[in-house]
Amino acid sequence: MTQPPESFAAHAPDVSAIERLIGDYLIGLSLPDSLRDGIRYAVLGGGKRLRPTMVLLAARAVGGSDSDDGGMVAAAAVEMFHAFTLVHDDLPAMDDDDLRRGRPTVHIQFGEAMAILVGDCLMGLSTQILCDRLDDLELSGMLAAELSRAGTAVIAGQVHDTLGDLPADLDPLERLNRIHRNKTGALFTASCRMGGIAGMWSRGVDPGHLGALTRYGEATGLMFQVVDDLLDVEQSAEHIGKRTAKDEERGKLTYPGLMGVAASREAVERLHGEAVASLEVLGAAADGLRALAELFAVRTR
Ligand code: IPE
Ligand code: IPE
Ligand code: MG
Ligand code: MG
Ligand code: MG
Repeated sequence: MTQPPESFAAHAPDVSAIERLIGDYLIGLSLPDSLRDGIRYAVLGGGKRLRPTMVLLAARAVGGSDSDDGGMVAAAAVEMFHAFTLVHDDLPAMDDDDLRRGRPTVHIQFGEAMAILVGDCLMGLSTQILCDRLDDLELSGMLAAELSRAGTAVIAGQVHDTLGDLPADLDPLERLNRIHRNKTGALFTASCRMGGIAGMWSRGVDPGHLGALTRYGEATGLMFQVVDDLLDVEQSAEHIGKRTAKDEERGKLTYPGLMGVAASREAVERLHGEAVASLEVLGAAADGLRALAELFAVRTR
């Protein structure tokens, strides 16, 4: 889709405020200029900002607002963590990609050593910003715990994606779901939970509402990676800003590779339904998340 669905446009938060928050935060840190340049390139150059969007819409879904510090800083933190995963995912030892967000990947632009260090630093900063930019240490601790646990799952997922090492008794679909839930789903779930925690913080976190956001994050996270697999076979590099037709060549276990394009589209529709169903308890406040799930289902980049 070139334009987001109309329903999403009505709910889209202003992610430029998150970009400013990250930019300002980076200016205030004592870092070698070359490292700061690499980090800025990785995190602020392009990207759809879907995880920060999800944080803010999850906060709204439980009565929070975009101007709450907790949601804003959580949104910045998840985007920084996400940028780290992309920089390392593109390295020659991983997916060996030279194009990301329509530009040369960080290791092509700055060299492999700097790309490793940019990723390392972004991972650390994603937690550090929660501690540096939030006065309420209990809140920053809760958010940091969510992000760190998700981060560990993402790395486990990348191991399974890249090196295998999955339990021998899993059938192929279970293997694939294990990979996708970890490498991609975990950060989506954390984004929803962090937005929910920040949004409910001043009134007390309702476990039922957090559970609804968790199920939404799990369904949309898996759906997002199924669609990413589909885009790899269906789209051009010019359109999506990263190389395509690479997963099969690299022997990746993917939804279209395992079950074909039509069945993968059916899986997207089923997961879309699960995501929407999980939001019922949140009522109209979750309309933004409903529109976001639709965007995930129909996106072409
Ligand atoms: C790409 O994520 C990596 C996956 C988990 C599939 P996005 O498609 O959200 O990438 P950007 O942030 O828009 O570049
Ligand atoms: C990315 O999966 C998952 C993470 C970066 C954690 P992919 O390898 O499919 O992502 P793209 O297609 O390179 O964006
Ligand atoms: Mg990968
Ligand atoms: Mg990749
Ligand atoms: Mg991919």
